[in-house]
Amino acid sequence: MKIALFAGDGIGPEIMAEARRVLDGLDLPGLVIFEGDVGGAAYRRHGHPLPEETLEMARAAEAVLFGAVGDPSCDGLERHLRPEQAILGLRSELGLFANLRPAKTFAGLENMSALRPEIASEIDLLIVRELNGDVYFGDKGMRETVDGRREGWDAMSYAEDEVRRIAHIAFRAAQRRGHRLTSVDKANVLETSQLWRDVVTEVASEYPDVALDHIYVDNAAMQLVRDPGQFDVMVTGNLFGDILSDQASMCVGSIGLLASAALGERRTDFGTFGMYEPIHGSAPDIAGQGKANPMAMILSLAMLLRHSLGRENDALRVEQAVSAALSDGIRGADLGGTASTREIGGAVVERL
Ligand code: NAD
Ligand code: IPM
Ligand code: MN
Repeated sequence: MKIALFAGDGIGPEIMAEARRVLDGLDLPGLVIFEGDVGGAAYRRHGHPLPEETLEMARAAEAVLFGAVGDPSCDGLERHLRPEQAILGLRSELGLFANLRPAKTFAGLENMSALRPEIASEIDLLIVRELNGDVYFGDKGMRETVDGRREGWDAMSYAEDEVRRIAHIAFRAAQRRGHRLTSVDKANVLETSQLWRDVVTEVASEYPDVALDHIYVDNAAMQLVRDPGQFDVMVTGNLFGDILSDQASMCVGSIGLLASAALGERRTDFGTFGMYEPIHGSAPDIAGQGKANPMAMILSLAMLLRHSLGRENDALRVEQAVSAALSDGIRGADLGGTASTREIGGAVVERL
């Protein structure tokens, strides 16, 4: 079993170090670990945020564990050299089109939600975010209008096969969960979304045991804070999924708790090839201070064990160790506590 660790920028290396301790604590037989450069760190060392050797390392592995990229000192670079291109490049080069972002309230953490505890306690949802298309990967540019104004533009589009394959992922996820699927779009305004809605409705005929409904993204944002317990699986495009998942994190209590899996079609000897990452970024405001919560990173490792290495029991062990640490009151600054990144990692390892 080969896995690649790409720590990246900001808090990336700090939280990756804790995931690494958890991984070492599991003592998996025959595990080979590669480490590669991504993001601003890779740009400084190799002149590119996603060096060819990093991409090759990912291709040679069963799975990638990804920290975070993003560095304010790189904001002035041309877009193709910015740190974020590492994550976008890996997702598209590796065909990782399905992003699973689960959000569930941990027992004992209801009071940390931005919502009232009785509302927060109901949250158990999965956002299925399309990851290879949408306005993220359309043509874009800066131009001058005929009357001399600067204009930035980004093309948004989805082809029907792109919608169909993510719809199948979402319906199958709903079959394994509560048999309810909510498709989120903006079909009242966007043609991209009209096609999205039409195709998801077509695919629904293959899943008579799943109840499908459609909701506009503005209403979805509102419902997510009004009554998040109503959602089981939500499927949506790249941009809406990005925004709604950050919002869902604060319904649960902290962005430092939400993990994700990016999956495609490639199978390995043990499961599906994938890349696993917290939903948060490099958090430059707290980098280097030992304040980052490594739990999202550690829970991403659990998803890796489950989906790419076929080690469900180890995944559950890791998830239960995180839950136990939380219910024992281990809290970082993001959850109103004082535990450092390293203390949180240590508390999880102790409970494995
Ligand atoms: P961010 O997610 O990095 O941070 C948002 C806020 O949440 C900050 O106040 C931060 O301190 C806090 N936060 C994030 N993760 C935390 C954790 N584990 N523990 C405690 N607090 C945490 O989003 P941003 O500030 O908008 O972006 C910063 C950089 O990260 C940008 O360069 C952005 O492009 C990049 N980014 C990268 C990824 C990724 O690599 N997957 C994801 C999102 C943003
Ligand atoms: C995420 C991030 C990325 C995204 C950025 C860093 C490109 O926000 O993984 O949620 O927008 O997909
Ligand atoms: Mn995001």
